[in-house]
Amino acid sequence: MNSQPSKKEMLYEGKAKKIYLTDNPEEVIVYFKDDATAFNAQKRGQVEKKGEMNNAITTLIFNYLKEKGIQTHFIKQLNEREQLVQKVSIIPLEFVVRNYSAGSMAQRLGVEEGIKSPVTIFDICYKKDELGDPLINDHHAVFLGAATYDELKKMYQLTAEINEVLKELFDKMNIILVDFKIELGKTSDGTIVLADEISPDTCRLWDKDTLKKLDKDRFRRDLGEVSEAYVEIYERLKKVLN
Ligand code: TMP
Ligand code: ASP
Repeated sequence: MNSQPSKKEMLYEGKAKKIYLTDNPEEVIVYFKDDATAFNAQKRGQVEKKGEMNNAITTLIFNYLKEKGIQTHFIKQLNEREQLVQKVSIIPLEFVVRNYSAGSMAQRLGVEEGIKSPVTIFDICYKKDELGDPLINDHHAVFLGAATYDELKKMYQLTAEINEVLKELFDKMNIILVDFKIELGKTSDGTIVLADEISPDTCRLWDKDTLKKLDKDRFRRDLGEVSEAYVEIYERLKKVLN
């Protein structure tokens, strides 16, 4: 059956997306907004077409990851702004992968941005807006009850696999995957799957030749051509996946 799910009441509203219940208790609809925030929502704005672009980009990337054997919450794109996904309970951790120095790590360590790391760097942050999503370690995550050591091991493994697939994909787009953040969720049977989104909101993406930033740093740092960067990523992605 290929019937359209019916959209029920809103379950949750985040900074960039809204989640709606459907008539199926196992599935929810994600609506992508144009709203952009940075620095724990101290900076707010709108980026024209961002919702449409992030919906389309996440759809292409999650489908590609699925082809590569990565389990995700994604079911299908419904329209320009919405996608249908499996309802999962989001693990309250952000998994950050860094292939090059940038952003908060460059600042924390007092190093310049753009240094290629000889190893893949993994950070975890505790998803807690009131605290500004602080950087934590595995022991803190276990202390908080966010995950067990065994689950953390599986989650780092999954995160590393996703990094390998994405690095290669962005490389074909002539883009350096500097760093990114993912969120993982647990399905009703306890399986850990990739959830949320992968888009220029959640990745640092630099053009390989010019090093031009094609991601949300254009908004965070007032660099201009924000919407254009999201469209550029979508266009390059479409080209390599066709
Ligand atoms: P950071 O350098 O600010 O810690 O960011 C690392 C990566 O995580 C970068 O690609 C942007 C992404 N990110 C999010 O997706 N959400 C966030 O709230 C933050 C702070 C970063
Ligand atoms: N989304 C985050 C916020 O508004 C920050 C970011 O992406 O830089 O807090």
